[in-house]
Parts: sequence; structure tokens; C-alpha cells
Amino acid sequence: MNAAFESKLQGDLDALKRAGTYKHLRHLTTPMAARAHMEEAGDVIVLSSNNYLGLADDPEVVAAGKAALDHYGAGTASVRFICGTFDLHRRLEEKIAAFFGFEAALSYVSCWTANEGLLPTIGLAGNTLISDELNHASIIDGCRLAGAKRVRYKHADMADLEAKLQQAQGTPIVVTDGVFSMEGSLAKLPEIVTLAERYNAVTVVDDSHGTGVMGRTGRGAIEHYGLEGKIDVLTGTLGKALGGAAGGFVAGSAALIDTLIQRSRTQLFSNALPATVAASALKAIEILEARPELIAKQRDNIAYFRAGLTRLGFTPLEGPSAIVPIIVGETAFAIAMSDRLLQEGIFVTGFGFPVVPEGAARIRVQLSSALDRNDLDSALAAFERVGRELGLIGAPVTA
Ligand SMILES: Cc1ncc(COP(=O)(O)O)c(C=O)c1O
Repeated sequence: MNAAFESKLQGDLDALKRAGTYKHLRHLTTPMAARAHMEEAGDVIVLSSNNYLGLADDPEVVAAGKAALDHYGAGTASVRFICGTFDLHRRLEEKIAAFFGFEAALSYVSCWTANEGLLPTIGLAGNTLISDELNHASIIDGCRLAGAKRVRYKHADMADLEAKLQQAQGTPIVVTDGVFSMEGSLAKLPEIVTLAERYNAVTVVDDSHGTGVMGRTGRGAIEHYGLEGKIDVLTGTLGKALGGAAGGFVAGSAALIDTLIQRSRTQLFSNALPATVAASALKAIEILEARPELIAKQRDNIAYFRAGLTRLGFTPLEGPSAIVPIIVGETAFAIAMSDRLLQEGIFVTGFGFPVVPEGAARIRVQLSSALDRNDLDSALAAFERVGRELGLIGAPVTA
């Protein structure tokens, strides 16, 4: 062991602890659901998961995974182009393509590796990757690996995007989150499409937080805006609304998907999505198609919880998605507040710098169709107690 190296690591960790910004892993001993058991805190109501449709412990999703394990075994012990592709992968990819309205799709072990496979492959030297400054870290890192010129535009600022498009070299590629994960807001896709048409740019949308949430049938931000057929490339995760296990995908033209099979490094040099996960995700998409009531319940829950928070005096950021952030200021405060809420049986995460800008730390509530009114009322009561105790909201108005 290198003593100096270890001591530097420990020193940095101690500094995080002193600053109150150290992250603790919390261990669940039951499946992800509206209520779960946590080793460190007992029974908790979960407001901190991307399990937007409550499918992570859905009996059909679980059964599909088990059946695939029995049928296919653990995996092929190989990357896909050597001998690592099951017919199940093709079925999943055909389903993803049809569901989102693209010619073809390709699965990856995560959306992180989907973005990291896609962006360097299409962002070749001579072109320009233009990325919203609040895009997810996987897009940022994917852009960093690309040979293209890289520029960021100010968050959701269409004048800045246009300025960047005017200066772009080669083919401009505009990449954005569909739903911004820390804000809960939507990308301005109609304006982005108009600009992309004007400047002959390629559009890439990562709709990890929009899938299963936005749009009449849960097809995401593109459906929400009625922009089907107008976005060139969609990326997304299977690890949130679509079963909650893991996995990601790219959907686009047949030529793009074939190019990714030939060239994208996270596809060429890494094993496939396990069959269990592929089967669960496929079942989750089928459930989303068959049970529109899941989306209706989620929308009710979002409206109810937002209204409840506002009535209590909180001012959550506006947005139509299932992400409801409450800005509280400093990182240590956000972490302390989430710790207090956990003591009250509410599992919700505080996010601070560097995930969000300094001074804009937040509690990020995420709403799922798995939650019922009883869960939401208990959570609101806890937010009221903790909010008053920490001085975020005032005393109740008495007659
Ligand atoms: C916009 C966005 N893209 C990508 C990811 C990564 O997804 P995965 O967990 O499938 O790698 C996330 C997850 O937080 C995300 O919010």
C-alpha cells in the first residue's frame, strides 16, 4: 500500500466530512417501491428514486427477468459482435425503435455508455458538438471523448445556441437532456428543432427522465411537444421508468445504428445488457403501453405533491416533469435537511455543488405512480415539520 497516496485520499474524505458534503450510501433491504426498508433508518417512504412508474418490483417485470435467466443463463461472456448477442436483444431493440418511433435502436449496459458510445462516434473531427451547459454528466464526458470541436450554450438560452450554431464548423450536433435531471424542466425542443433546421444541425436528445413521464402515452419529451420525426437521435435509460434495473439505448436511423454497431467503443469492447435486464425492460415497455393508468396516477401524484408543498410555503422550481426540486442554498444545508427528513421516515436526497451550482443546493423530490395519497400526506407532514424546524417555511397562520 502506498502510504502517501492513502493518506491523501483519507485527507480529502475527511475534508468532505468537515464540510458536511460527504455522501453516505443508504442500504435498502427490500425492493425499490413506494415504501422500502433501509438498514440505517428503518421503514421509509421513497421520494428519491427514478422508479417513476413503480415497475422496479412489478411482478410481471420480475417474472420476465427470471424467465430470461432460466432460458439464457447469466450471459454470453463476450462482447456483442463476437458472440454476445441474444435474439432477446434484437426483440428489445426492435421494441424500443417502434415504441419511440425510430428506424432502429441499439441497447447498451447503461445510458451512460450509450451516450459515451454515441457522441465520440458521431462527433468526429471537423464537426461541432453543441451541448446545453446543464446536460447530464454522461453527455459531458461523451463530448470530452469526441474529436469534434466542443462548445456549450447557456442553459436553455436559444439566442446563445443560435450564436454557437453560427460559429460551428462542419456538421453541428446539438445535444440536450429532454428533462433536466436537477431542474425538472424540459428542453425547448421546438425552438431547438427550428434552429437545427435553419443551420442544418443534427439533434440528439437524452430523455432518460422524460421516458415514462412526459407525453400523453409516456413516450417522453418528443411526444409532449408533438415533435415525432423531427429529432434525429434519442438516447435513454432502461434504469428509471422502464423497469429500474439498468441499461440504456440509442434510437435513430438504420444507418446510425449500424454505424454504432461498427464503431462505438462502449458497444465494441463491453459485454451486452444481461438477458435478465433486457427481458425486464422489454416487459416494462409492454406494461407502459398496456396500462396508461400508471401515467395518469403519476400525474395526479405530481400535481397533488406540488400543490401540497406550495400550500406549506415551499417554492419548488416550476416544471411539468416528475422531478420537483426545492432550492435551499448551501450544500451542507441540503444534506442536513435530507438527513432530518430521513429521521422522519422520508427518503429524499439533497444535491449540492458540484452536481448543481454553488449556492443552489436543493432537495430533489421525485414522484412515482407507486405512491398513494397516504404516502404523499405523510411525506408532506414531514416536510412541514422539518421545513419549520430549519426555518425554510414560516409558522402556520392561526385564526
Ligand atoms: C439525463 C441522463 N442521462 C443519462 C443518465 C445515466 O443513466 P444510466 O443510469 O442508465 O447510466 C442519467 C441518470 O441519472 C440521466 O439523468
